[in-house]
Amino acid sequence: MSRQDVNIRASAAKALHQIVSHNRTIDWALERGVLDDPATAAIVYESLRYYPELNTRVMGCLERPPRDKDLDIYALMIVGAYQLADPAIPDYAAINETVNATRQLKKPWAKGLVNAVLRKLAAVDLAKRTFEHHNHSAWLADELHRDFPEHAPALMRANNQRAPMCLRVNLHRISAEDYRKQLDQADIAYRTFLPELPETLILHDPVPADTLPGWEDGLVAIQDCGAQLAAVLALNAAQSPLRVLDACAAPGGKLFHILERHGKSDIDVTALEVSERRANTMRKLGHRLGHEVDVTVEDARFVSTDTPYSLILLDVPCSGTGTLRRHPEIKIQLDKNRLDDLVATQRELLESLWSSLASGGTLLYCTCSLLHQENDATIQAFLSANENNNAQILPVSLPLGNATEFGWQLTPLDDTDGFYFCLLRKPAPDERVTDQPASIGLT
Ligand SMILES: C[S@@+](CC[C@H](N)C(=O)[O-])C[C@H]1O[C@@H](n2cnc3c(N)ncnc32)[C@H](O)[C@@H]1O
Repeated sequence: MSRQDVNIRASAAKALHQIVSHNRTIDWALERGVLDDPATAAIVYESLRYYPELNTRVMGCLERPPRDKDLDIYALMIVGAYQLADPAIPDYAAINETVNATRQLKKPWAKGLVNAVLRKLAAVDLAKRTFEHHNHSAWLADELHRDFPEHAPALMRANNQRAPMCLRVNLHRISAEDYRKQLDQADIAYRTFLPELPETLILHDPVPADTLPGWEDGLVAIQDCGAQLAAVLALNAAQSPLRVLDACAAPGGKLFHILERHGKSDIDVTALEVSERRANTMRKLGHRLGHEVDVTVEDARFVSTDTPYSLILLDVPCSGTGTLRRHPEIKIQLDKNRLDDLVATQRELLESLWSSLASGGTLLYCTCSLLHQENDATIQAFLSANENNNAQILPVSLPLGNATEFGWQLTPLDDTDGFYFCLLRKPAPDERVTDQPASIGLT
């Protein structure tokens, strides 16, 4: 079948079905080529952003819930419902093409059903088909209202926007200035992020990664702007010579950025990652960017060392609620139990890695979460444990985002992914910590 013959609604429904019914991620679909076409990917992203509302609309047109074996047809109806809410797509096209997609799903019997459901939805005035609801699950909305009492509605709206494509120029291979010239020559429009991070660029419109100048030669990587502040904080807080442990390393963005900013001398790096698959991804990425980092597949909760580290990067596994713009499926898949499991792992990691930090050393704890439970509350629990109460919090100060009790929070309202950073310093046993330490950051 040629690409023109492929009905993008059918492809979108297949991917959506895998993500929603089989708990797959968008990254899974992208890696396996299930979402290789930008038009299909756009439909899937948007259908996931507004899934709760689309689900209510489609369910409201059905006499009974779909059978498990027909959840692909259900996903197709969600895709059709999304297209009917798009004023740029005429109703007849949204309906006809979606009905035709039943053939590619090998379920021609569903034609009548899909047609009937979409016609019912199309009978509603177009103005009333826009999305009104915040499209977050009730418990997640409650958490956000509690953690961001003034900003929760705006934050949820921001979570439903498309995230920009951000680049990190590989300063080991090219200067930011020279790379920008290459973007100009390729007619790729961009803006800079902060004067202190000339390597961080935001594209006006996303482009396929392999069309970026110097992609194959490792001149550039893709990394959210907020994520790029981690390397700045880590390097500003730590003292040379750097003996670095990245405890949860893959796919390696923050560690590679630390290497690119620091230069090659006076730095010794250990990278741990519990997932073999993700470790391999990191090795490939490191190879493209020219970083020789050994990635050891190991559970960081169970490591110990005789030679403690001067800098530990602890970028813990988390809910990813700061990345809902890029991973809208998290809104559907995350539940309270999963969150509690993550919090337990985060606390274990922090507790156990503290013993591997040298006196005078710094640990950067970070998450891409918006939730207090994974952020300040995890730090609070750590500080409250007797043996850690000498840990010193180094205040963070950045030109965007907000201070929290122990760290710093960025959210999509800052037009970055949501990140939490907390810097913890381990004083020497005989050190008397009296003065308030100076802020670390850019301001
Ligand atoms: C937020 S990601 C790290 C992102 C990475 N620092 C970067 O900047 O690209 C967290 C990583 O920790 C890994 N991980 C989860 N539990 C772990 C554990 N107990 N020990 C080591 N790695 C773990 C996950 O597989 C995941 O790759």
